Amino acid sequence: MRIGVAKEIKSDEYRVALTPAGARELAQRGHDVLVESAAGDGSAFPDSDYERAGARIVSVDEVWAESELLLKVKEPVEAEYARLREGLVLFTYLHIAADEPLTRALLDSGITAVAYETVETDDRRLPLLAPMSEIAGRLASQAGAHFLEKPLGGRGLLLSGVPGVAPGRVLVVGGGIVGYNAAIIALGLGAQVTILERSIDRMRHLDEILSGRVSLVMSSSLQIESSVADADVVIGAVLVPGAVAPKLITRDMLGVMKKGAVIVDVAIDQGGCVETARPTTHSDPVYSVEGIIHYCVANMPGGVPITSTKALTNATLPYVEAIADHRLAEAVARDRALARGVNVLHGKITYEAVAEAHDLEYTPLDAVLPLTPA
Ligand SMILES: NC(=O)c1ccc[n+]([C@@H]2O[C@H](COP(=O)([O-])OP(=O)(O)OC[C@H]3O[C@@H](n4cnc5c(N)ncnc54)[C@H](O)[C@@H]3O)[C@@H](O)[C@H]2O)c1
Repeated sequence: MRIGVAKEIKSDEYRVALTPAGARELAQRGHDVLVESAAGDGSAFPDSDYERAGARIVSVDEVWAESELLLKVKEPVEAEYARLREGLVLFTYLHIAADEPLTRALLDSGITAVAYETVETDDRRLPLLAPMSEIAGRLASQAGAHFLEKPLGGRGLLLSGVPGVAPGRVLVVGGGIVGYNAAIIALGLGAQVTILERSIDRMRHLDEILSGRVSLVMSSSLQIESSVADADVVIGAVLVPGAVAPKLITRDMLGVMKKGAVIVDVAIDQGGCVETARPTTHSDPVYSVEGIIHYCVANMPGGVPITSTKALTNATLPYVEAIADHRLAEAVARDRALARGVNVLHGKITYEAVAEAHDLEYTPLDAVLPLTPA
């Protein structure tokens, strides 16, 4: 199959959808890999690395016009709508439930659009979102430690303490993928860590893997209120699938917190779990409300594109190989997780939540494609 890799043109996006290592795997399987010139520059992968891996470097027009499967990181921006076309399979983060103009552009073009974020296994895992949550969680503790420094507006506290001086306290609200990863970095920095979780099963699992190194406490409004009062860093990491994040940390609770404490609201991309949170950017990441530093960067993995690009390719490559080796119809027939990723096909919406979000007609995928393996 002819597989293209387009350069991202969305502002502040430095990731690329395929590493040279991934390009080599695909080339070795006999596929023709086209990489848009300079696509990997932001992730420190020059064109020459892709050429050595067996890919061809092409122009933007060629990559969009000649590919059968086009790999991207972010959704097409308006300037790219005219390039969408029938016969092309686009595989990328789409998030079209929140983007009506793009949904219409995809439908009108006849393109097939497969969204990373809706690829979902039978046990409800989201394998193409997980690596970004791992990165965001790890960055959250780093950011918290950093902004505790006095010249940056923080309390002026070293999270690890030193011999003779107690370490700082990190409170993680939500012990999923983000929360677990935040906790292990905070532990590594020497902090005292508490995780508040709502799921008993998840707490049992965290107890097994963290074996007593963190305090695991049932989450409730009362518990959150008393825990934030002691915390130097609070990390918001909750997710209620399919819903905006609940506002668990209210404006009133800021009043009981220590001045100069840091809140990192990782859930900001789902609206935030802190009442006073609003999205910020890597170039202007923090602001203060009632003396509490708020870090609310909505695309945290974008700050570390070298790591994020590699982690993303590690997760997407098996699916890319499946589509390339078997073509989309057979690949989705063999793998229900990949089938759930198909959002738009032949001018129809094949993902129910997207159709509902825009009040448009939903067509089950198996009404458009036969879902029995050949
Ligand atoms: N800002 C960014 O760049 C960025 C990057 C990746 C993920 N995220 C966001 O981070 C959030 C967490 O993602 P995740 O992958 O860890 O999700 P996850 O589903 O793995 O974990 C969420 C956890 O929150 C728990 N939870 C739900 N309600 C709770 C409550 N009231 N109190 C305590 N815990 C509660 C759930 O039981 C679950 O364990 C999501 O909103 C996600 O979109 C943001």
